[in-house]
Amino acid sequence: MDGSGEAKAKAPQDRLAEWLAEDMAAVNALIRERMASEHAPRIPQVTAHLIEAGGKRLRPMLTLAAARMLGYQGTDHRKLAATVEFIHTATLLHDDVVDESKRRRGRPTANLLWDNKSSVLVGDYLFSRSFQLMVETGNLRVLDILANASATIAEGEVLQLTAAQDLRTDEAIYLQVIRGKTAALFSAATEVGGVIAGAPEAEVRALFDYGDALGIAFQMVDDILDYGGQDAVIGKNTGDDFRERKLTLPVIKAVAKATAEERAFWHRVIEQGDQREGDLEMAMTILSRHGAIAAAREDAIAWAGRARAALDNLPAHQLRALLSDLADFVIERVL
Ligand code: IPE
Ligand code: IPE
Ligand code: MG
Ligand code: MG
Repeated sequence: MDGSGEAKAKAPQDRLAEWLAEDMAAVNALIRERMASEHAPRIPQVTAHLIEAGGKRLRPMLTLAAARMLGYQGTDHRKLAATVEFIHTATLLHDDVVDESKRRRGRPTANLLWDNKSSVLVGDYLFSRSFQLMVETGNLRVLDILANASATIAEGEVLQLTAAQDLRTDEAIYLQVIRGKTAALFSAATEVGGVIAGAPEAEVRALFDYGDALGIAFQMVDDILDYGGQDAVIGKNTGDDFRERKLTLPVIKAVAKATAEERAFWHRVIEQGDQREGDLEMAMTILSRHGAIAAAREDAIAWAGRARAALDNLPAHQLRALLSDLADFVIERVL
């Protein structure tokens, strides 16, 4: 970081990547080394397909940034960052099976290219690899945090299954779902960075709070992009949530304000699953009629604000400023 105008104009995640370049190169090398398998060639095929497509690598950067910000001088934070990205990758493989998604990171999904069986089993393999990696740190507390996060993610995905297709799903249930399926890994990512650095409890707590709020804002924006984003930019297909009959925040807000006619529409497409040509466009019209996307964005902005506020409890540092900017980026992001 040279602090020049040019560097400032870059997106916060790029500036973070620059700041953490050496660590991140080591993490990527570790990921490549550990995603291989000598015994089952299908494993490196599937993992390479997904991992080499890139991805924003946000979560491992959070772990690295948290540890560095608190003065960590060792190298175990790299193992933890790789662990976090492995857990993320495993959940993506499973998630695309569950959601029957066809595009991820600008490529056809593994379940489409190979099959559901390969995605489920390679996802399991990556979960197991992530556990091997974190065990190497020998730090029981980080094992506890990451094992809990993995269980919480699965709970969130299962809760979402039962909350889908049900118009009674409200904002409280939605929050519970996204806090589990998404924010749990963000908060674990930041928390373990603090723990490995030996930070005081108040700072570890602040890191958890930052990750939790950031993850919630991140998923809210993801759910907005599923209606308003561009396929070519997000690298996924928009409209997946509608097709899967998910009650995401914009829909919950629109259902709460629905007229009798709109309620009948939501009942047909979400509860009965009777979706016809033009229904996605109709859903988007109804969302905009009630300002549901704008209202969901307001909620995401509020959570980003909570993420920034949590940083006040951490020592001043260039990385702290970058994490604060990252909270704004999560709102502005288009991919
Ligand atoms: C996708 O996460 C899954 C969600 C929680 C929405 P990312 O958007 O961070 O995925 P990649 O790693 O950049 O592809
Ligand atoms: C993201 O789920 C959370 C996990 C992968 C566990 P989504 O289904 O909302 O995310 P995308 O849109 O497929 O990335
Ligand atoms: Mg999905
Ligand atoms: Mg999903």
